[in-house]
Amino acid sequence: MGERQAGDPALYFSTHVFVCGNRRPEGHERGCCASKGSEKIRDYMKVRVKELGIKGVRVNQAGCLDRCELGPCAVLYPEGVWYRLEDFAAVDKVLEQHIQKQSRVAELMLPA
Ligand code: FES
Repeated sequence: MGERQAGDPALYFSTHVFVCGNRRPEGHERGCCASKGSEKIRDYMKVRVKELGIKGVRVNQAGCLDRCELGPCAVLYPEGVWYRLEDFAAVDKVLEQHIQKQSRVAELMLPA
């Protein structure tokens, strides 16, 4: 995995969240995050980041992150930690514990 090097510009975002928004046709063998509600999850996360006044965090929609069966999934950088964001409560936990407290939400984390 790439590592930051001396002379790299400072991080533009302290945390950059990518939420998969990929949608596949119904019946596709891998399924998709959008069919499991990822678009609403992303929108909710964006709203909550603003409401909570969290600075330096960017929430973006991503295409397929290739972990479709485990979704709805999101990955946070620069940590490279993946979560299954199954509902709004999961989003709240990640925002509070991972981002605000710089901890982890072990029960939502995807395996390596
Ligand atoms: S559809 Fe979300 S990771 Fe592939």
